[in-house]
Amino acid sequence: MSLFITFEGGEGSGKSTQARALHQRLSSMGIPALLTHEPGGIPLGHEIRRWLKGDRANDKVDVDPLTELLLFNASRAQLVAAVIRPALKRETAVICDRFCHSTIAYQGYGRGLALDLIEAANNIATQGLRPDLVVLLDIPVEQGLSRKKLKDRFEREELAFHQRVRQGYLEIAKKDPQRWLLIDGSLPKRDIERQIWERVEQLLPRVTKKR
Ligand code: TMP
Repeated sequence: MSLFITFEGGEGSGKSTQARALHQRLSSMGIPALLTHEPGGIPLGHEIRRWLKGDRANDKVDVDPLTELLLFNASRAQLVAAVIRPALKRETAVICDRFCHSTIAYQGYGRGLALDLIEAANNIATQGLRPDLVVLLDIPVEQGLSRKKLKDRFEREELAFHQRVRQGYLEIAKKDPQRWLLIDGSLPKRDIERQIWERVEQLLPRVTKKR
């Protein structure tokens, strides 16, 4: 049995903090757990991340949306093959900060690429792997962006782009409430942690404790 949990949300939603907190909690209970993130998680992914996000606040990188879709999925394919699948095979709980739903929200709803094209590209990269649980931290766009100091290529996008990303996430989450946990990202950190834990606890029988 295995457990695969992803964290999703717009800029400054607090998902990375919560992904780390969950990883720590599972590890402290003796449950084998691995924390990774997209794009990144492996050397090739870090390179792709650097190309896509831009290095400095004033970097002007002009990347076509289709190229963006393929680069995110190139990074994903490698992460799935080299890190995520092997860990799941070892019955390790895998927590991934962003996964294929980021591409639907950002490249689909944000950039306007066709959703069936994204679905196809995501499927090639993941070979059909889907998370057991997707935690979505939802926060008003202005609030999230105000948490960011040095803005990268995505964070510098216009407000309307981020609004579309947010609406996209909410739409996808609504369609599959069994898999998605929608949380108000403006709540205090502790409350968010508690809500996530209540849901994860129900899934724990899927993973076994270290002896
Ligand atoms: P972050 O992980 O620090 O939030 O940075 C990743 C950025 O890349 C973020 O702005 C969202 C964006 N992104 C996409 O546009 N599509 C994707 O598929 C992924 C994984 C991230």
